[in-house]
Amino acid sequence: MYFDPIMQESIKKVEAAREANIRMDPRRMTAEEKDVLLKTYHPDYKTAEFTELKMGPNKGGKVPVELAELLQGNPRITPEQVDLTKPDYDVDVLIIGGGGAGASAAIEAHQNGANVMIVTKLRIGDANTMMAEGGIQAADKPGDSPAQHYLDAFGGGHFAAQKDLLYKLVNDAPEAIRWLSELGVEFDKAPDGTMITTHGGGTSRKRMHAAKDYSGAEIMRTLRDEVLNRQIPVVDFTSVIELIKDESGCCAGAVLQNMETKELLVAKAKTVIMATGGAGRLHYQGFPTSNHYGATADGLVLAYRAGARLLYPETLQYHPTGAAFPAQIYGALVTEKVRSVGAMLVNANGEVFMNPLETRDVSAASIIRECTDRGNGVPTPEGFGIWLDTPMIEIKNGTGTIEKRIPAMMRMFAKHGIDIRKEPILIYPTLHYQNGGLKITDDGQTDIENLYAAGEVVGGIHGRNRLMGNSLLDIIVFGRNAGRHASQKAKEVSVGQLTLDHLNAFNQERANAGITTDTLSPRLLPDYTRRRNTL
Ligand code: FUM
Repeated sequence: MYFDPIMQESIKKVEAAREANIRMDPRRMTAEEKDVLLKTYHPDYKTAEFTELKMGPNKGGKVPVELAELLQGNPRITPEQVDLTKPDYDVDVLIIGGGGAGASAAIEAHQNGANVMIVTKLRIGDANTMMAEGGIQAADKPGDSPAQHYLDAFGGGHFAAQKDLLYKLVNDAPEAIRWLSELGVEFDKAPDGTMITTHGGGTSRKRMHAAKDYSGAEIMRTLRDEVLNRQIPVVDFTSVIELIKDESGCCAGAVLQNMETKELLVAKAKTVIMATGGAGRLHYQGFPTSNHYGATADGLVLAYRAGARLLYPETLQYHPTGAAFPAQIYGALVTEKVRSVGAMLVNANGEVFMNPLETRDVSAASIIRECTDRGNGVPTPEGFGIWLDTPMIEIKNGTGTIEKRIPAMMRMFAKHGIDIRKEPILIYPTLHYQNGGLKITDDGQTDIENLYAAGEVVGGIHGRNRLMGNSLLDIIVFGRNAGRHASQKAKEVSVGQLTLDHLNAFNQERANAGITTDTLSPRLLPDYTRRRNTL
């Protein structure tokens, strides 16, 4: 037993209330209750944590202060430092990012006959895709439909999703599952071979397809194998530090930098796909994160500097159940599937305070309220936590359920002396996903001709809040979509003279706006010398 005496006292209350709690079916909040809760407790509504951009396509718009610092930061190079006349690489489609969206785009572009190259600042598969646990949504069972999936996601996203993008997401979902299965993803199946599907927060049907609780790792393993089998070149440990345009203003490649030697390289391309993922490692508002080390908003910075608009950059997703204890796993994802298979959230007094399957923003705000204003959190070395009563799962579903359905969770806590079959676990919201990002059309193109984007770097597919399982889905649907369109477009493109003139224009606009800063961007790797505490 690893828990301190206060935690142990609280666990006794959780255990005493468990039998009654299991029988509870807590009511869902009304729309009005949710509205007040979000405005009072959700981090997106903390106005002091946001600032107005002073320049660029979103000038006047609100973004987190940490992101503004990077969007308006100093480029890492000057145009004079780079010889654009002798490219080191010359390809049809350059893909920036080696996660699920980048790999899906590469496979599809390669399938379409393009000469493709992936560049990634870490290794292929070092990405949020690999860390995804709970599953991927698709309405492919009787009694469900893409229309129903659309309604769930549109409502969950506060009716702000770009309708054409969401329409594509839900309609292409069944085909995405088929594609992944054919590539070799081992989804959980019943003895008769049908897919096992569960609920996630905000879903009206059981449409979450999973590979236990390492769904993202299973998907990424399969995509990576396919990229390697196709012998698609991957330039790893190499970051993109600037986009390159041609004289007509079309995207035409990127300046790369070897992460170790710092050597600068030039990649010329007919089309470019931005698939750099999210921003959790910027630790907005001092939150811990479930994201991988490379999630530092590079794609937003690079594309913004080159003139691309952002959509909803002020909305972030705090996953309600990040590990709050022990400190070694602070902020790590505790999949929503733990609640899907029966665990409930209870406070320090053992009381159920919300329905466990509210949407994520509502759940996170509810947990924050419980720990702050209501004083019902359990003190931890980092702040506070709420119990996720995991022993309920086997009481409801039988012995062996945890090992079978959520083995990764069982192992993560077992390493720290906690047996989640017998003891509840402490959770607190963790920075998980950027809802906002680059604005795209339904063929995946950003505001910049020949610059496409896919995956978490895109904004607007989910509106202002994303449902569980729609991100693994969007990297596949929009990754493939971008790969298809970018490779098709590459067939018609003839690249003009390469230039970094947009950097001069950006620097001039910065000077005119009176912005002075020492910050270099993109950040590339997290900066742990400046981290704040959560509470
Ligand atoms: O809770 C989870 O497993 C996370 C899934 C997601 O973000 O889609």
